[in-house]
Amino acid sequence: MEETCKNVYITTPIYYVNDVAHIGHAYTTIIADMLARYSRLTGHNTYFLTGTDEHGQKIAQSAEARGRTPKEYADEVSGKFRALWDNFDISYDKFIRTTDEQHKLGAQKAFEKMYNKGDIYKGEYEGFYCVSCETFFTEKQLIDEQFCPDCGRPTSIVKEESFFFKLSAYEDKLLKWYEENEDCILPRSKKNEIVNFVKSGLRDLSISRTSFEWGVKLPESINEPKHVMYVWLDALINYISALGYGSNEEKFEFWPASIHLVGKDILRFHAIYWPAFLMSLELPLPKHIAAHGWWTRDGEKMSKSKGNVVDPKQVADAYGLDAFRYFMLREVPFGQDGDFSQKALIDRINSDLGNDLGNLLNRISGMSGKYFDFKVSSIDVEKFHKKELDEVNKILENVEDFIFNMQINRFLEDLWKVLTIANKAIGDYEPWSKMKEGKTEEAMALVALITNIMAKVSILLQPVMPEKIEKIATSLGIHINTELYNKLIVNKELLNDVTITKVDQLFPRVEEPLIEQAPETKKDKAESEKKSDKQEEPDNLITIDKFFETTIKVGTIVEAEEVPKSKKLLKLQVDLGEDKNRQILAGIKEFYSPIDLIGTQACVVANLKPAKLMGMLSEGMLLAAKDENGLCLVRPEKTKISGTKIS
Ligand code: MSP
Repeated sequence: MEETCKNVYITTPIYYVNDVAHIGHAYTTIIADMLARYSRLTGHNTYFLTGTDEHGQKIAQSAEARGRTPKEYADEVSGKFRALWDNFDISYDKFIRTTDEQHKLGAQKAFEKMYNKGDIYKGEYEGFYCVSCETFFTEKQLIDEQFCPDCGRPTSIVKEESFFFKLSAYEDKLLKWYEENEDCILPRSKKNEIVNFVKSGLRDLSISRTSFEWGVKLPESINEPKHVMYVWLDALINYISALGYGSNEEKFEFWPASIHLVGKDILRFHAIYWPAFLMSLELPLPKHIAAHGWWTRDGEKMSKSKGNVVDPKQVADAYGLDAFRYFMLREVPFGQDGDFSQKALIDRINSDLGNDLGNLLNRISGMSGKYFDFKVSSIDVEKFHKKELDEVNKILENVEDFIFNMQINRFLEDLWKVLTIANKAIGDYEPWSKMKEGKTEEAMALVALITNIMAKVSILLQPVMPEKIEKIATSLGIHINTELYNKLIVNKELLNDVTITKVDQLFPRVEEPLIEQAPETKKDKAESEKKSDKQEEPDNLITIDKFFETTIKVGTIVEAEEVPKSKKLLKLQVDLGEDKNRQILAGIKEFYSPIDLIGTQACVVANLKPAKLMGMLSEGMLLAAKDENGLCLVRPEKTKISGTKIS
């Protein structure tokens, strides 16, 4: 975000319509919304864009798998995204769809311009393509000669006529841009990765496809009806077509973007391809491209197959939208990966929001009501509390820098330092004692100090929690707008006299998780989605061939004895049919005594590489199940011939 610039243009990525929104989408959108609200509050002319990315092979395949046309399918999912953002009161100014006519005109105009400039040529593409990431790869980039290095899914071989963009010609210009614009990519660590990537050499980029039709056609002037635009070229152009590039230019005063917010996985497209396209189009480059990290769930990567995808609406419905917004912005430093757990969210609600913020408001209304009939005057605050006011103003003077540097968590940390000053002042000055001593002026000064602190913090918190802050503002009898921001924050003035109104508890204590079953975790739901959406193959699935690499057999335990000096191990001799005396060391001593095992059967992994345990060879493994109640061996239900294969 630019401090000096009056026009501010904020964008989110446009989301693929092959799936419903999850916490990752909500995260980017909430950050962007917070920045847009902050920008408006601080008096900037602001334009906030979000939308959906609807073309490409991935969407075409997802639609086909559901027996729908791509457009029908895109209409439905795009509508769901929009409805969710509306439900979340996201303050976007425009919701763009890449199937909009205005966008198509912009994309075609851009292609034509780059072509006429000599930056596009026709050739043949031969290489690998990951449909899920909509990305081309060379053989060298693949993992195990087949899998996508970004998402791990299998790639397919593509050989087709294609137009290419001369990306290689922009290497030096890009490096110069990175060098001259320190903050063009945030955080810095990510910028270094991009610079190194570009330094290692750029290849020209295939920017059209001929093997399917679901995309923007090339401009008629080029007369290549077989080709559609590569979906990433099409998608990136949304940032200018939304402002009217190639059509009415209605909002083009907002270009260049102040900030493109993206996830770290799509930074390369935004920080390399996009600036190169813009250079070719002779347009100014974005001021900042900021990449956030990824959310995991209870420490694990989210995927449909695990059934642990966090549904943002379910969380917001259960805990409140503003608490969810606060949690997302406060919990994780921008750029780093974060973990979603109900416990962490509940801690934030009870501690930061309930104790520090909500209680302070209760104390204001309690004390002002009891001592002053809810009327608060700031007249003596400077006289009795200059020290606290100076401390508060000093912190607030600098908090904005955290926003410009995309350190929103630190911005919030500092606002909480200010709340601590207020909470501490109450304990230090004990207004109730002052009242007893007849020092009414001093008691009023203290109540007014904390009321002013609450007002100042609320102004800055409004973009983070608009709904709850509106309630606080009503309680304090203030109206939060640019004028009040200028008065209380920029000019460091105090409130005029206000009348406090009581409000219900803002953040009631949460005692236990409110979402019983993890959001969207029903395994059967995940299973059915998995079947109907081939694109969403999770990365932890294995093929049947892979499974059969493991030989599991029924084994009969013929001997069992304790391993001296080992707390856990038993030494077993197991009959595996052809191999009558397989020695296996099993960590089951705490659960079985040798005598109980002899003559019983178990399931044995028979083709495990031998390993030495306590100096003895172990040539296999018994299957067992362990939970909090202990461990038990997995055995065939009925006795089977030793060595019978299990499949
Ligand atoms: N359509 C492209 C973007 C084109 S922008 C010109 C796309 N769409 S997406 O729907 O797959 O992803 C959108 C955003 O969601 C990306 O910024 C991505 O980083 C983000 N996330 C997807 N999963 C995420 C998490 N688990 N956590 C945080 N963000 C993640 O890419």
